[in-house]
Amino acid sequence: MAVSTDIRQVTLADADTLLTLSRKTFFDAFLPTNSPEAMEAYASKAFTPAKFEQELNNPDSQFFFALVDGTIVGYIKLNYRTAQTELQNPEALEVERIYVLNDFQGRQIGKQLIDFAIQTAKAKSLKSVWLGVWEHNNKAIKFYKSKGFEQFGSHPFMLGNDKQTDILMRLVLNRD
Ligand SMILES: CC(C)(COP(=O)(O)OP(=O)(O)OC[C@H]1O[C@@H](n2cnc3c(N)ncnc32)[C@H](O)[C@@H]1OP(=O)(O)O)[C@@H](O)C(=O)NCCC(=O)NCCS
Repeated sequence: MAVSTDIRQVTLADADTLLTLSRKTFFDAFLPTNSPEAMEAYASKAFTPAKFEQELNNPDSQFFFALVDGTIVGYIKLNYRTAQTELQNPEALEVERIYVLNDFQGRQIGKQLIDFAIQTAKAKSLKSVWLGVWEHNNKAIKFYKSKGFEQFGSHPFMLGNDKQTDILMRLVLNRD
């Protein structure tokens, strides 16, 4: 059943909450299909207080929480300009991360987060929204395709020492 979701920007004061949520959703999503060593090697670098403080202070990155009845149930990370992990096209927006807690998945919370990203890009007159998704993450790939994203490339992604392939997907905004 779809639920109505509030979306609010994450601030520095939320850094601890964001870190806990990021680690939890990352491990819940990918530990079943990856080695614990590779997961921890990645997480120990990507999910640290110092890294999050730096990312929250970057004016070209924004995090937003999704809330249902006041409870935080997911988040999205948006990158602009040089904060984008690659391409760094100033007319594009990157969705670097989008995660919904397991218990809340399938209720259109992810859809509301990605719609928010698309609306944000349109409001800033950007021309596209893009993201990288693990080639074996079929659920997320199906989810992005349902929003009109199409594959435009791929790139290697290091999960610890495990070299994986991310599919790059893009939604072009200025067709109509
Ligand atoms: C991918 C993710 C953000 C989607 O969020 P969500 O709230 O579960 O998705 P929604 O309920 O908004 O569903 C949107 C669409 O996704 C697809 N979808 C959702 N749940 C699905 C499921 N269990 N199986 C297959 N497709 C599904 C459907 O196409 C759905 O469209 P519909 O509502 O018209 O049927 C969420 O599942 C998640 O956090 N996954 C783990 C982390 C992850 O993989 N993040 C992406 C990294 S690139």
